[in-house]
Amino acid sequence: MNILVTGISKGLGLEITRHLLESGNNIFGISRNQTEELSTLLNTHKNLNWLQYDLADSTNVKTKVFNEFIGNTPLHAFINNAAVAYDDLITNLNDEPLLSMYRVNVFTPMHIVKYCIRNMLLHNTKGSIIHISSISAHTGYKGLAMYASTKGALEAFSKNTAREWGEKGIRSNCLVVGFMETDMSSTLTPEQKNRIFQRTSLKKPVDPRSVAETVSFLTSEKSNSITGQNIFIDNGTI
Ligand SMILES: NC(=O)c1ccc[n+]([C@@H]2O[C@H](COP(=O)([O-])OP(=O)(O)OC[C@H]3O[C@@H](n4cnc5c(N)ncnc54)[C@H](OP(=O)(O)O)[C@@H]3O)[C@@H](O)[C@H]2O)c1
Repeated sequence: MNILVTGISKGLGLEITRHLLESGNNIFGISRNQTEELSTLLNTHKNLNWLQYDLADSTNVKTKVFNEFIGNTPLHAFINNAAVAYDDLITNLNDEPLLSMYRVNVFTPMHIVKYCIRNMLLHNTKGSIIHISSISAHTGYKGLAMYASTKGALEAFSKNTAREWGEKGIRSNCLVVGFMETDMSSTLTPEQKNRIFQRTSLKKPVDPRSVAETVSFLTSEKSNSITGQNIFIDNGTI
């Protein structure tokens, strides 16, 4: 399968990319930086293609991502993984960082979905779209209201995409992920992390491999009756 994945330079996106490559998929990956881990993957896997692109730019999605990078390749799946977190109290809200986060987390992914669906229709592909959401959109967490609102937007967008394109066999689902140990969460203190773990049944961080396995399942034919869903991978958050 040919799969477009955003945010492949580190964290969950890197894990998803590794997993999908090992299952023999062709990956079209996007990030701003080429980390050491990504360089290693690029050197060892011919089936990995990388585009350096800043997702804050929604205006060049058609030309740079679809015309120049994907070209005539039929896409079978899109994994909307890249995101940034503008975490602060609502009383400190500033327009510029809020807009910038919305561009990366919501606006550009919506443009990518637009062209993914056009690609899938052109090639008659029953494609799978997967958004990485966050448990914070459901449970709430002090300081994450603005970030969580971007994930709520994606969840609504995903459900409606599923409804709009289901008759063509195109599916759309969200993975609602709990706390993982990545760069995004690295500013939390051990006490804050412990408080998060105490709210889960399994009392530990989410394993990115568990998310990557679910992504793999959702891209495959095995999941062909699943669409419009939010699938929780959150260690059983209470
Ligand atoms: N960590 C958690 O606890 C947690 C919990 C629930 C959900 N999530 C979600 O899981 C997903 C992955 O997060 P993570 O924890 O793996 O975060 P991360 O370690 O910070 O990685 C984020 C990835 O997104 C890419 N990215 C960010 N801004 C970009 C931009 N403007 N243009 C292109 N690429 C960009 C980064 O690449 P470059 O910096 O190289 O561009 C990086 O590869 C996100 O959707 C996040 O909201 C995370």
